[in-house]
Amino acid sequence: MTHPNNQPPGRLITHFANRDRQSQKVCWSELWDSDQADLWDRGMPSPALVDFITTRRDIIDCLGGGRRRPRALVPGCGRGYDVVMLALHGFDAVGLEVSQTAVNAARAYAEAELSDPSAYNFADENDEKGRATCQPGTVSFVCGDFFQRDWETGCFAPGDDGGFDLIYDYTFLCALLPEMRKDWAQRMQELVRPTGVLVCLEFPLYKDLKADGPPWGLQGVHWNLLAEGGDGRIDGSAAATDGGRGPFTRVAYIKPPRSYEMGRGTDMLSVWAPQEWAQNA
Ligand SMILES: C[S@@+](CC[C@H](N)C(=O)[O-])C[C@H]1O[C@@H](n2cnc3c(N)ncnc32)[C@H](O)[C@@H]1O
Repeated sequence: MTHPNNQPPGRLITHFANRDRQSQKVCWSELWDSDQADLWDRGMPSPALVDFITTRRDIIDCLGGGRRRPRALVPGCGRGYDVVMLALHGFDAVGLEVSQTAVNAARAYAEAELSDPSAYNFADENDEKGRATCQPGTVSFVCGDFFQRDWETGCFAPGDDGGFDLIYDYTFLCALLPEMRKDWAQRMQELVRPTGVLVCLEFPLYKDLKADGPPWGLQGVHWNLLAEGGDGRIDGSAAATDGGRGPFTRVAYIKPPRSYEMGRGTDMLSVWAPQEWAQNA
């Protein structure tokens, strides 16, 4: 996603111009089917997420209750870099994609990467000991629409109580029309386990909230949706409140030392716990 402010619309924005909510899935699939994933594909997992799960063991070690491997979901996972990385760090990781072509590409990537993991999956590229001690979890990719529930059955064994211990959003919320944001928050509320966390790499924060997307500018949008219980369709004119009325509580807000270059040094990593869990912790 390479459309900075004040420049002519890029290929991605042009592709989505005047396309309504109903046609969004088709639009993404068209891009995958015509081999245009280069518009957003960074070729590696998020360095900010790698660092987070390596350094914030206070949060990560609580996930899954210690009785089973924690379960992670990456909606709109693209080629699945973050899914594979999470599995290499001990999660049973599921990638969700609306495009079957993307799922096929992710499965091919995972097969190659799991047999010979790249150094970029780990915080310290020279940390051979850290890598050797990490017991990998499973990887699976599911083709489905995040806003529907039918794909969920493929993720859980019968009798399983469902839900994910960690959901990671990077360039998924910003790929959605602003009118879909409230539903995104509602689905996150349904999918994160009561003791789980939603981790968001907030991007793009440098982009005008009124400028066309995707990517759509998200400065203040996560807070509005998750802490304030708003619809996320803000224009930056109103001051943010202290939160407390939304479905989640922000339990960590980190300026990641490493992130993608395209974030221009403005990306933030936010970690959200469902209200009830945060209150009882
Ligand atoms: C901007 S791309 C980001 C991909 C990946 N996160 C990455 O960073 O490479 C957004 C992805 O979300 C997928 N997507 C869009 N709408 C979706 C939906 N409703 N359900 C599942 N995936 C969706 C698209 O196919 C696309 O691959």
